[in-house]
Amino acid sequence: MYKAPRGTSDILPEDSEYWKYVTDKAIAVGQLYNYQPLETPVFEDAQLFTRSTAEGTDIVDKEMYVFTDRGGQNLTLKAEGTAPTCRAYLEHGMFNLPQPVKLYYITSFFRYERPQAGRYRQHHQCGFEAIGDADPLLDAEVIDLSQHFLRSLGITEFSIRLNSIGCRQCQPNYIKTLREYYSQQEAALCADCQVRLLKNPLRLLDCKKKDCKQIADVAPKITDYLCSDCQAHFERVQHYLTTLEIPFTLNHRLVRGLDYYSRTVFELETLNEKSQSALGGGGRYDNLVEQLGGRPTPAVGFATGIERLILNIQQTGISIPARSAPVAFIAHLGDAAKLAAIKLSSRLRAAGIPVVLATGTKSLRAQLRQANSFSTSYTIIIGEQELSTENVVLRDMKAQKQTLVTQANIAEILLQKQSH
Ligand code: HAM
Repeated sequence: MYKAPRGTSDILPEDSEYWKYVTDKAIAVGQLYNYQPLETPVFEDAQLFTRSTAEGTDIVDKEMYVFTDRGGQNLTLKAEGTAPTCRAYLEHGMFNLPQPVKLYYITSFFRYERPQAGRYRQHHQCGFEAIGDADPLLDAEVIDLSQHFLRSLGITEFSIRLNSIGCRQCQPNYIKTLREYYSQQEAALCADCQVRLLKNPLRLLDCKKKDCKQIADVAPKITDYLCSDCQAHFERVQHYLTTLEIPFTLNHRLVRGLDYYSRTVFELETLNEKSQSALGGGGRYDNLVEQLGGRPTPAVGFATGIERLILNIQQTGISIPARSAPVAFIAHLGDAAKLAAIKLSSRLRAAGIPVVLATGTKSLRAQLRQANSFSTSYTIIIGEQELSTENVVLRDMKAQKQTLVTQANIAEILLQKQSH
């Protein structure tokens, strides 16, 4: 027996209502904040990610699904959505449009991770990117959008963690200080952190291991090393969030797992789940478009993991709209009645009435049982007698009452009942 590859899963019909619930709300939020949909290919040039996300990050070093296609091109299944969005922005000349260009995507991503609850090798995100504007107002608006999205889903138990990681001017100075601090603690660091010290010191602050966490807690804070522009930007973001009455907590250890960020970084963390607590995250990436070959173009964005949202919705018992059952089941008795039933099903569907048509030659009792299993409100029964009089029996399944109605009127009657 074949199984879905490790870390992937089928989205079954019983899950689909949750998916629809989340994606419908994402589209609604996109509309509310004036973001336009964008869909990029499932695979991209591998360099797009190595250049943007950078070596020294888990994604590039260990997690990308890289392959060479039959034409010898080095490709990868997309690992995240920000770099492809910037690629599309550049490729389609969106820098000529009024800025900022606001785009959203709902799509799957691929990372070779160690699978566990809330962490998969194929996962899905709703992401929002605003490209072409440096105003700190936009950072606050993206954070506002992110919290609005979660609240629109009924998720209220989360916190917003906020930090600034500076820019190309001030970050190197901080990294030098951080390196000096960590060099004195090297022996106490975990094996991963010893590599991070060489390759990507900012990520030292993010280590989840207990000893490393203690060292990170008292490490020099990046916010003490920001240049005056970054400092002013960070203060404005906080001021706007306060104006919007959005609560947040400053966390100097928040650095994010991707390397393209500058200035504002933030994460939305659930208060219910300990292991995979990040429901979403984002920040500013003012250098990314330039890194990919464009002019210097400031940008800010956010993405949230759909599987994690759904886990949260299910664990906290948020009720979502139930899938509506088909309106009627069409039962038939005999060959001639079966033909009439086929025609009727087509007529009802053309009128927009969802129906289930019985198959085979089962007894009426068996067909009624089947209708029950579909939870239809009505069963339409066509037997020899009804055929000859051009009628059908309309059975109300809940009330267990039957009436005789003409075939010509049945669509109108069902539409009327549906609207009540
Ligand atoms: P990220 O933090 O890597 O950011 O992913 C965003 C969200 O996707 C996470 O907070 C988490 O909810 C979900 N997620 C990530 N990896 C997995 C996984 N393996 N299994 C399940 N869920 C996962 C980004 O990808 C950035 N592109 C976000 C962004 C947009 N920054 C600026 N704009």
